[in-house]
Amino acid sequence: MDSTTYDVALAFHLLGALLFFSGIALAGAAFEFARRRETPAEVALLLSLTRVGVALVGIGGLLLPVFGLWMVHLGHWGYGSGWVDWAIGLYVLALALGGFGGRRPKQARVLASRLAEEGAPATDELRRLLDDPVSLAANYASLVVVLGIVALMVFK
Ligand code: HEM
Repeated sequence: MDSTTYDVALAFHLLGALLFFSGIALAGAAFEFARRRETPAEVALLLSLTRVGVALVGIGGLLLPVFGLWMVHLGHWGYGSGWVDWAIGLYVLALALGGFGGRRPKQARVLASRLAEEGAPATDELRRLLDDPVSLAANYASLVVVLGIVALMVFK
């Protein structure tokens, strides 16, 4: 194996992990702050930040599997080795949970922007979308799964 090529792949994989985590942190923090605000304008402004976070998660989330799978190939880790299969499975699970958990916050962002434009006060529907316990659970479960993947990568 050419170790320089492997190192380049690892560097981009780690860049992906960095972007992925920055995005999760930004989206999560913006959402948690938005949930604690009263006016639709404040909620909409904070939730607009979650879009930047989601974009970072998207870029990092693309780099991670592309360069991760390349390393599996270059390093002859093999798909039979348990940790690689677990990493792939958990990664798909994390994306599914995050995608599901992000639906209500997205609806909240659209509704808050509309209410803000109309100069209307927050509605019960907006509060329900922001406080949806199933979405919150899915998002935090997704974070736990991602932390599990990092532990898997480091300790194999
Ligand atoms: C799509 C699934 C993934 C695959 C196939 C994969 C594959 C790999 C491989 C082959 C290595 C190199 C191991 C070595 O040379 O010792 C690695 C390292 C690493 N991966 Fe992944 N990875 C995946 C997802 C992720 C995710 C989602 C994260 C974090 C968000 C992540 C974070 C890391 C870190 C931090 C390392 C460095 C570990 C170390 O050198 O101690 N990986 N990964």
